[in-house]
Order: sequence, then structure tokens, then C-alpha cells
Amino acid sequence: MKHITIAIDGFSSTGKSTVAKQLARHLGYVYVDSGAMYRAVTFYAMQEGYITKHHFNKDGLIANLKNITISFKFNESLGFAEVYLNGENIENQIRTLEVSSFVSKVAEVSEVRQKLVEQQQVFGKHGGVIMDGRDIGTVVFPNADLKLFMTASAETRAKRRFSELIERGETVTYDAVLKNVEERDYIDTNREDSPLVKATDAIEIDNSNMTLQEQFNKILELVNSIN
Ligand code: C5P
Repeated sequence: MKHITIAIDGFSSTGKSTVAKQLARHLGYVYVDSGAMYRAVTFYAMQEGYITKHHFNKDGLIANLKNITISFKFNESLGFAEVYLNGENIENQIRTLEVSSFVSKVAEVSEVRQKLVEQQQVFGKHGGVIMDGRDIGTVVFPNADLKLFMTASAETRAKRRFSELIERGETVTYDAVLKNVEERDYIDTNREDSPLVKATDAIEIDNSNMTLQEQFNKILELVNSIN
């Protein structure tokens, strides 16, 4: 069986990573969460003071991009790879609403995108990869064997993200999460560099009313039709 490249794009909290992780385990593929890389850069910028509530020192961040090393390490007990920033495991710190509220601004910066896209292309060099994000089928792997575009209503997505954050012990309101999801969608689709857009050859999956198992089965069917 051929080891293909699968690109999954879509709006925030469409459940891309959940189904991608499950598929990667089933197929023995590597799963790469490209959003985690943008979140890692955002976390770095917050830690170093390039981002505060009122100011984003873009030039400061750009000048220091060379000091950022992002890596992934597979965690056997979790069954997926966790993200590391300069050797430190930051998997939990990057999932907060605070990081979510800044990440799309950081992802607008072309120098940031260039650095991360280069690394993502290296991850995908040998196939057998499932990567999710916003520009995977359009920019990172324009020749991916299978491109999916996941959608769901903003309310469905906010509900999912809200439950996730509550489970992690964050004190957030549903309204704040919905606002963040809508804001990120807006910035991600309207930015100049690599905006979120469905690739012309991507297959759209609206999973508002689909269970995880149904999504898994549908995508597996598509994978099998290629192999
Ligand atoms: O996937 P996740 O919601 O964790 O991504 C966080 C943010 O990172 C997105 O809202 C988007 O601004 C940015 N991103 C991106 N390109 C990608 C992946 C994520 O711009 N390939």
C-alpha cells in the first residue's frame, strides 16, 4: 500500500485534529498539527514580551525567529506527538484561550509562515503523513494525494472548543469562545499571505451532524480509493 500525503484544512475547531490523530494511528502514519506550530511561536512571543494585551512587536519577533526551534515528540501513553519549544514540552500551555486570542495575528506574519511551512514540507517529504491546518492543501502540499476541507457551523465549533477548555480546567464563557472562533475565522480567511481557502481539488466534509466514527469511516474510504 502506497504511503500517501493527506492534507486536512478547515476553520477553527472543526475537529480536524481528532479525526486526523485517529486515522494516523490506524494507518501507521505521522500526524502533524501545524496549528500547534503557530501556537508555539505565539507562546514564545508572549513569553518574550513581543506580545502584550495592547501591543504586538512584530519586528522584534521576526528578528528572533532564528531562536525558535519547534519539534514534536511522540508520547506513547497519549498516542500522539506533543509539541516542544526549544526543548520544553509546551503541549498544554499552547491550548489556552489566551494563546488562541493572539495566534491568528502571529499567523498573518509572512516571515513566520515561511519558517513554519519550510519545516512542514520537510516533515512531509517521505509521504505517510497527515497534516492539518489552514493552508496545507493550498501552500504546504499543493500536490497532496488527498485533500479534505472540514466545515461545521460556528456554534457547533464553539461548543466543541468550549467543552475542551472546560475539561482542561480553564475558566471561560461560551460567548468568549464563540467570539474567538469567529474572530480567528475572519482573520484566517482574510489575511494576505496564504488565506484559508478550500483548494479546488479538496473534498468538503461538513461534520456538524457526523460522529467521529462516521468521519473516520468516510475518510478511510477515500484513502482506500486512492491506494
Ligand atoms: O489549528 P489551530 O486552531 O490550533 O490553529 C491555530 C491558528 O494557527 C489558526 O487560527 C491560524 O491562525 C493559524 N494556522 C495557520 N496555518 C496553519 C495552521 C494554523 O495560519 N496551517
